[in-house]
Amino acid sequence: MTLDRPVVLCVHEIEAGYGPIKALRGLSFDIREGETVAIIGANGAGKSSLMRALSAMLPISTGKAQFLNFDIRRTTTHELTRNGLLHIPEGRGTLQSLSVIDHLRMAWDIQIEAQAFENSLIKVFDTFPRLKERSNQLAGLLSGGEQQMLAIARALIVQPKLLLLDEPSMGLSPKYTSEVFKVIQKMKDDGMTIVLVEQNAKRALALADRAIVMAHGEFILRGSAQEIAQNPHVIESYLGEGVNSA
Ligand SMILES: Nc1ncnc2c1ncn2[C@@H]1O[C@H](COP(=O)(O)OP(=O)(O)O)[C@@H](O)[C@H]1O
Ligand SMILES: [Mg+2]
Repeated sequence: MTLDRPVVLCVHEIEAGYGPIKALRGLSFDIREGETVAIIGANGAGKSSLMRALSAMLPISTGKAQFLNFDIRRTTTHELTRNGLLHIPEGRGTLQSLSVIDHLRMAWDIQIEAQAFENSLIKVFDTFPRLKERSNQLAGLLSGGEQQMLAIARALIVQPKLLLLDEPSMGLSPKYTSEVFKVIQKMKDDGMTIVLVEQNAKRALALADRAIVMAHGEFILRGSAQEIAQNPHVIESYLGEGVNSA
């Protein structure tokens, strides 16, 4: 369906780790414009390490990783961000002592094209009325759910060419989780290209086009999100009763 679309990210046999710990063991995958790929797997599988490697926060020791025309191994995180790769890390990466509105202004500052910030802001506040009410409040005083919305609001401001979302529902109540997934769905519907890492496999698979299951630094299964959601191993390990259900 999307095979005629340009490749946004192309990863071939990458490895990375922390000193003697190998976190990524020869991973390959592509993502095309407009696709949403879910990466699921247990704690410690290497999902966050993969996100960090893709945004050049964790050095890749071997293999190839290309984002648009950029060789990720030869590009800094900052440069990748400026060129449209936005990584929202686990734990959100909001700064406790900055206000909501300052976070959004800062996101805007990394934009190259000059568009009207105010217009963009209206759209974001339309999506997240709660942030509008709290626009002058310090991020550190927001609830976990509100901080996650702020993190995602930055993505709406930046309109990245590739969004790496690491565990957006982590620690959130079911109500906030639903709200966050609604916004991710909307970004997807608007054509954003997304790599979504989630422990909440059920929701991630419901939203994604394709899925990859990761264990011990390797990709152990991949397919359409629908196929993966019906895979007996996946059902038993990641979708069963009581397994991260929210
Ligand atoms: N900063 C770090 N230093 C050393 N080891 C780490 C660090 N971060 C992660 N690891 C190790 O790398 C492996 C993958 O972790 P991680 O990428 O965080 O997995 P996931 O996000 O799937 O839970 C684990 O064995 C973890 O202990
Ligand atoms: Mg993680």
